[in-house]
Amino acid sequence: MVKQDLSGLDILITSGPTQEAIDPVRYISNHSSGKMGYALAYEALKRNANVKVISGPVSLSYPSKANVVQVISALEMYNEVMSSYKDFDIIIMAAAVADYRCANIRDQKIKKNNESLVLELVKNPDIAKEIGKIKENRLLIGFSAETNDVILNATGKLNSKNMDMIIANDVTVENSGFGSNNNIITILRKDKCIKYPLLTKKEVSKYIIDEIMDLFFKR
Ligand code: PMT
Repeated sequence: MVKQDLSGLDILITSGPTQEAIDPVRYISNHSSGKMGYALAYEALKRNANVKVISGPVSLSYPSKANVVQVISALEMYNEVMSSYKDFDIIIMAAAVADYRCANIRDQKIKKNNESLVLELVKNPDIAKEIGKIKENRLLIGFSAETNDVILNATGKLNSKNMDMIIANDVTVENSGFGSNNNIITILRKDKCIKYPLLTKKEVSKYIIDEIMDLFFKR
């Protein structure tokens, strides 16, 4: 019997990569597949939450019971989150948002006439950080994909973005993290830190949602 402990809760999940256009045929992005966000959405739906997913470009089909809004760029994701966050009790940011975008998107395909090419990049808004300033009593949960100093870096983000919890992934572990069906995570809250072995994204989603519910009822 599946727990229905999320009945009546509204959960917003960002998922997947963003793509930042360079010209009409090229973009800057990363290796996020959206699988982590998908697994979280599926677990939350199974436990009877209302779920909205704001997804960057991925080739997954999301659970039909979720309200899925597709975006391309970080600015589009930012606008969509800002216009809807007020309707949600819990905001989970699993997306790998590009930190920078091109200052000038070229109208025409760039020709390879020169030996080098310099692109000017400007910083994207930090969606999680902005939500952290205005979230009031909503829970804000983040992710942190790290290649070194995993706990230290994730703790920095937990505090600087005013998150309630962050899930640190060590993306150097084989068969884990970006694109994989598995993940090796550490859940960091202000009051505790729990390290898990390599598990499927479906399995880690259950532990993540359990920890979120524990926090939710302790607020
Ligand atoms: O999609 P998959 O292939 O399943 O892979 C899952 C994942 C590895 C992408 C995911 O689990 C993950 O770790 N996502 C966060 C990636 C990351 O490194 O985020 P960050 O350290 O740049 O950002 C920290 C937090 O701030 C994240 O919650 C992120 O969504 C958020 N952020 C970051 C930058 C930005 N401009 N806006 C944001 O909201």
